[in-house]
Amino acid sequence: MTRSNRTFAVVCAAIVGVGATVALAQQAPADGPRYENGTHLVRPDDYQEWVFLGAGLGMTYEEDTADGVSSEELSQLFTNVFVNPSSYRRFMETGVWPDRTTFVLEFRQSASEVSINRAGRFQTDLFMLEAEVKDARFPDGWAFFDFGRAGELADAAEPLSGERVAPCIECHTLHTAVERTFVQFYPTALDAAREHGTLKPGF
Ligand code: HEC
Repeated sequence: MTRSNRTFAVVCAAIVGVGATVALAQQAPADGPRYENGTHLVRPDDYQEWVFLGAGLGMTYEEDTADGVSSEELSQLFTNVFVNPSSYRRFMETGVWPDRTTFVLEFRQSASEVSINRAGRFQTDLFMLEAEVKDARFPDGWAFFDFGRAGELADAAEPLSGERVAPCIECHTLHTAVERTFVQFYPTALDAAREHGTLKPGF
């Protein structure tokens, strides 16, 4: 090859490379939600490798809980919230969750006074698992899911509907700091939302 031919080949290769990168960036994120039958969310089996947004201990906010968990039981449970990594990165840059963001809410039992522990509580067995997605395939852009109790977790869950989803939507609309999410309880995301001015009025 002459020098100019070689230069031409290198430039062509670079253009193909940029084109491929742009095409990839426009595709759905690799770590986005996966569905069966169009809308049944497949339980993400790798969410422990996602970004950990925050934890709560005994965060009760209802008189009676929908699925028969008493406030007493809830007060000993930890909640851990995870989000898929590419959506977290976008949120940190923009303060807005991109389409196809998946959140997993894990409830874990807790214990005290085991081993060297004398006071305070630490997490133990999984108790139940819920999820939420922001995805334009759903009528109002969001959907809520319940994978059930530990030991009998569903491999895929249909979007909650009717009476089962009404409390999720109401609470996640009236009391959330960013869109349908409780960013007020996730310290690093809260900083990003403040920086980008995306907190709802009042927060
Ligand atoms: C009365 C208020 C309330 C109701 C009802 C409610 N949630 Fe939440 N939810 C919260 C709060 C507060 C958090 C913050 C995290 C925590 O509890 O540790 C949260 C967090 C979550 C998260 C993590 C992402 C986020 O939005 O911040 C998911 C997923 C979730 N809830 C699913 C559900 C599902 C599914 C239902 C309905 C079955 C539901 N929630 C009903 C208050 C509520």
